[in-house]
Amino acid sequence: MYLRKLTLINFKNLAEQTLALNRGINCFVGDNGTCKTNIVDAVYYLSMGRSALAMSDGQCVRHGENFFVVEGDYADRDERHEQIVCTYQRGAQKVVKRNGKPYERLSDHVGLIPVVLVSPMDSMLISDAAEERRRYINGFISQFDREYMMALIRYNATLAERNKFLKISSDEQMLQIYDAQLAASAVKIHQVRARVVEQMRPIVAEYYAAMSLDREQIDITYRSELNERPLEELLAASREKDLVNGFTTCGVHRDDILFTIGDMPLRKYGSQGQQKSFLIALKMAQYRIIADERGEVPILLLDDVFDKLDEGRVGELMRLVAGKGFGQIVITDCNRERMVRALAPCGAEHTIFDVTYGRVIE
Ligand SMILES: Nc1ncnc2c1ncn2[C@@H]1O[C@H](COP(=O)(O)OP(=O)(O)O)[C@@H](O)[C@H]1O
Ligand SMILES: [Mg+2]
Repeated sequence: MYLRKLTLINFKNLAEQTLALNRGINCFVGDNGTCKTNIVDAVYYLSMGRSALAMSDGQCVRHGENFFVVEGDYADRDERHEQIVCTYQRGAQKVVKRNGKPYERLSDHVGLIPVVLVSPMDSMLISDAAEERRRYINGFISQFDREYMMALIRYNATLAERNKFLKISSDEQMLQIYDAQLAASAVKIHQVRARVVEQMRPIVAEYYAAMSLDREQIDITYRSELNERPLEELLAASREKDLVNGFTTCGVHRDDILFTIGDMPLRKYGSQGQQKSFLIALKMAQYRIIADERGEVPILLLDDVFDKLDEGRVGELMRLVAGKGFGQIVITDCNRERMVRALAPCGAEHTIFDVTYGRVIE
């Protein structure tokens, strides 16, 4: 599935814009602060039903306006068409429609048009707390495993109820019910996370080796209390503690994924360049896994990836994504010459769009 036409009304600083994209590489070049990331975010929004930038729907409405529309017209190899329209009006519920029909739940849409985003914000995956990495792995897996997403929704709902309950009661029967429900959802979440991390490990290492010249060994490890014991046992053992604290102190909501370089934490021991290459390798592995699981390549969004990468790595990356096994790509950069140089050796179908503030020049 690739995006043929993107239409935006009042989305961030884009007042009105229609863009015809090609099925290969689409480059957006222009100064910083124009609208490159906003366009990337609009494409992401169409797939995930939300902004990638931790921006609320209200914040995505162009200043001074009271609604936005993001519309995408897609086609696949057999010229099968899909139209996705996301509308949001201040004070109202957002509506996501597929071919004119509104979804009942946004979760029914996630995964229809898989997308992988590589952005400067990825550094938060290394620098920030575990919550960021859980959010990442959840969004990633939800694009190909519906049952996982449903288990996660159930788990979070039960967890919230249990936490509320712990603050007002210690009723044994009720707590046992909560524990059983939580444990049932956690089994699925834990299994899938463990499997996906195992799947990713060799692929991340392979892409990292292709991207970087150094011989350092990088790795990712899934850390979960459930690796040791089932959640029901953990909950029973920490019951007293939970009652004192008034919240649930164990479970998959405390999971983490560790990134290492030469067996040391990447955050502390990885150089800027190593961290950057690692993050791209991680996202490429994500791309590969979604493609395998779905039997369809995701749309790849590369926002500002050339920044901080040396020219050799840029070339390596472009050779990679222009090769076989990749589909549509949206890529941004502030330097037109650098973009042209990067594209030169890869020969894939491409279009360069020049952007100015809030406007794409066609
Ligand atoms: N809701 C909004 N209304 C109007 N302008 C916005 C809104 N959200 C973001 N912007 C503006 O969009 C511009 C940044 O666009 P962005 O796509 O991040 O630039 P870049 O080309 O550097 O990626 C900023 O000037 C920002 O103020
Ligand atoms: Mg940007």
